[in-house]
Amino acid sequence: MIISLIAAASENNCIGKQGEIPWDLPKDFKHFHDATKGKPIVMGRKTHESIGRVLPGRKNVVVTRQDMEIEGCEVVHSIEEALELLKDESEVCIIGGGQIYVQALPFANQIDLTRVHTEVEGGDAFFPEFNTSSTSEAPLRGADEWQLISQERHEADEDHNFAYTFMLYKKNNTHAAGGTHKPRLGVSMEYWII
Ligand SMILES: NC(=O)c1ccc[n+]([C@@H]2O[C@H](COP(=O)([O-])OP(=O)(O)OC[C@H]3O[C@@H](n4cnc5c(N)ncnc54)[C@H](OP(=O)(O)O)[C@@H]3O)[C@@H](O)[C@H]2O)c1
Repeated sequence: MIISLIAAASENNCIGKQGEIPWDLPKDFKHFHDATKGKPIVMGRKTHESIGRVLPGRKNVVVTRQDMEIEGCEVVHSIEEALELLKDESEVCIIGGGQIYVQALPFANQIDLTRVHTEVEGGDAFFPEFNTSSTSEAPLRGADEWQLISQERHEADEDHNFAYTFMLYKKNNTHAAGGTHKPRLGVSMEYWII
């Protein structure tokens, strides 16, 4: 199963500020739509509330500690429960926010990150740090290691207030093994309206 974290983060790893996404990048909206279309998406309760609706054409799974029902969504109480629910899917998209990314990172084997080339001040939600092959000796210690597979930079223009780069990472051991990975179970947002 591919377990993919899909996020857009500033140079200082900010993903959100006061419940909103601090940029307006229509081509990243389309990228998000194309990456998640037809696939199950897993999100924290706060991200679900920021979106404000069920995203169509995708199974919406919301993680919460509360005993609640959300119309049009499957409600689960942990990342592990979400992955168990979706274990027969070929790909699962983890779409945030910060609390969910950090807890899902150990299960993930792919990161689809849009790096937004700005520093955001006063952010309150962040994408977690992760090891990349150029920055650590983690493989020697058997730790998780991420390899940059592709990147595509787009400059700012009249519709995009910052330059940004689509970056696809795969977990090194996953990549080397040909893409198989077993998760270690047990352990006003217009952006989304597309
Ligand atoms: N730039 C991006 O790509 C992107 C993507 C998504 C979101 N965002 C931004 O991120 C921000 C929201 O992120 P956030 O970190 O504040 O919240 P979040 O991760 O979306 O949701 C947090 C909530 O998830 C539930 N939760 C977390 N861990 C859990 C666990 N282990 N078991 C059960 N439930 C758990 C809790 O819900 P309960 O309180 O109901 O128990 C918690 O309050 C917003 O600003 C949003 O705009 C940005």
